[in-house]
This record gives sequence, C-alpha cells and structure tokens, in this order.
Amino acid sequence: MDELRDRVERVVRQVVLETLSSLGPGVTAGLPAAVPAGRRPLLVANWKMHHTAEGAREFARALAIAPECPVEVVVCPPAVLLPVLRAALPPGSPVLLGGQNLHPEQKGAFTGEHSAAMLLDAGARYVIVGHSERRALFGEDDAVVGRKIRSALDQGLRPILCVGETLAQRRDGGTFRVLRTQLDLALSGLPLPAPGPATVVVAYEPVWAIGTGQNATPAQAQEAMAFLRDRLAERFSHAYARQVRLLYGGSASPDNVEALSVLPDVDGFLVGGASLDAGKFSAMLAALQRGKGTKG
Ligand code: PGA
Repeated sequence: MDELRDRVERVVRQVVLETLSSLGPGVTAGLPAAVPAGRRPLLVANWKMHHTAEGAREFARALAIAPECPVEVVVCPPAVLLPVLRAALPPGSPVLLGGQNLHPEQKGAFTGEHSAAMLLDAGARYVIVGHSERRALFGEDDAVVGRKIRSALDQGLRPILCVGETLAQRRDGGTFRVLRTQLDLALSGLPLPAPGPATVVVAYEPVWAIGTGQNATPAQAQEAMAFLRDRLAERFSHAYARQVRLLYGGSASPDNVEALSVLPDVDGFLVGGASLDAGKFSAMLAALQRGKGTKG
C-alpha cells in the first residue's frame, strides 16, 4: 500500500515538474498543492551573525503569530540571543527557537563552542547543522556534520540538515551526486530504526542561491527536493520519507515564497536575509500559508 501510494505520488510529482519546466520560471502561482501529505509547514529564520539584544527584542515585539498558526515557526538567532529572544516573545507565543550550530561532544575543552545541552538549556528546540557557510568557512566536512546530527538527536534537539550544490557542481551535472553524498554521510551514523521523521528536517540550499538574490526556479527546487525525498525512502522507508519535512533555502523572499510553496516536496523555508525583518518574515509566513492552502 505504501509502495503504491508512493508510486502515485512520484507520478504526480513528475507531472508537476514537467508542467513547471514547460511553463518556464515564475509561472506556478495559483497551482494547487499537488500532494497534501499531512506534513506541517515549517518556516525557519536563520539570522546568521546579525542583530544584538535590542534588535532581537524589536523583532519579537513586531512578530505577531497566532497561537493556532498552522505553520510551525522557528527562529535561529546567534546563540547568545537565545535567552533574550525567549524572554522577549509574548507569553503563549508558538514561536520556537533554534541554534545555528552545535559541537558534537557533550562537554569538554572546546573553546568557543556550544553543546546540544547548552542550546536546549537556552531555549532551543531545533539546530541548523551543516549549513554551507559552516562547510565552506569553518571546514566542516560530511563526517563532522554526521556526528553533529547524531549528537543533536541523542540529546533531544531536532536537526535541520542543510545540503546543496555549488554553481560549479550544478554546471558539471553533479547536483544529484552532491546531494546524495551529503545526505547519505550526514545520516550514515544513525541507528535503525530511523529517528522519528518529525524530528529530522532537511533543507535544500543551493549554495549559488544563498544571499545572491537568485533563488532556484520552482522546477529546479522541485527536482532536487523530490530527489532528496526519494533518497530518504531508499535509506529508511517510503512511509518515513513521506513524513520528513523538506525546506527550500536560498534567497527565499516575500516575492517568491508562494510560488515555491505550491510544490509538492516543499514543506517550508529556511530564510536568511529576509528573516531579519519581522515584517518581511511575517509576509513570508502569509505567503507560505496561501501556497499551502491553509489561508484564504
Ligand atoms: P538567504 O540565506 O535567505 O539570505 O539566501 C539562506 C540561508 O543561508 O539559510
């Protein structure tokens, strides 16, 4: 039964992909969400190294999110701002917090680092792992990323695993190879049965789209994200892969979120630059809800 449903979904995804490709970029607005899979949409802010305490408080004041919001919203500030943001969010706010990085060890002589337990203690429930800036600027390889994923899960923090190809890799036809390698190695240390699918999030972030203003087209995003979901099915099971949430990241903005949200394998977004401003972030939340049909 799972297999059959999966095959039907695959065909639907393929049709969507081919339709998008034939229409060209930017023509997806208004398409119905093709496969309602029951995955709760997720919107994640990655502030990177931006904002100080006052900026965080201002953001928290300006961000009005209803407690019953159908989208799960997570904000990942610099680690020192986690307690500030936690204190500044209004009582009953559904917004969750996340870290941007963690050290795989539980404690020890690792100057400047934070463990999963410290992030949890400061209010985080999620943590970004393997962001391309960590890989490129801080020398994180797939083995380290895998250790971090395992450490986060072991200690009750939900990892948001980032994978994505560079422009050179895409031009060389290496996109799928890079995605497969990054995904496989990051998850290779995980014991079976698999960790709960609700606790693992995978973000497809093409490196060439990050901070460039040039987001992936809907067809490019759907193709890569369907590939990731298929790979998860091979690694774990079809039922498992159907439940894992996949995010798109890379110049996501209020202007492109709705068109990307209608794609069957896009469950939400990991947002850098546009997440620093509460107004823009709220606009993206509304666009995601329109795309997923959870708001009129
Ligand atoms: P961007 O960053 O939205 O500024 O492109 C995304 C990310 O790095 O997660």
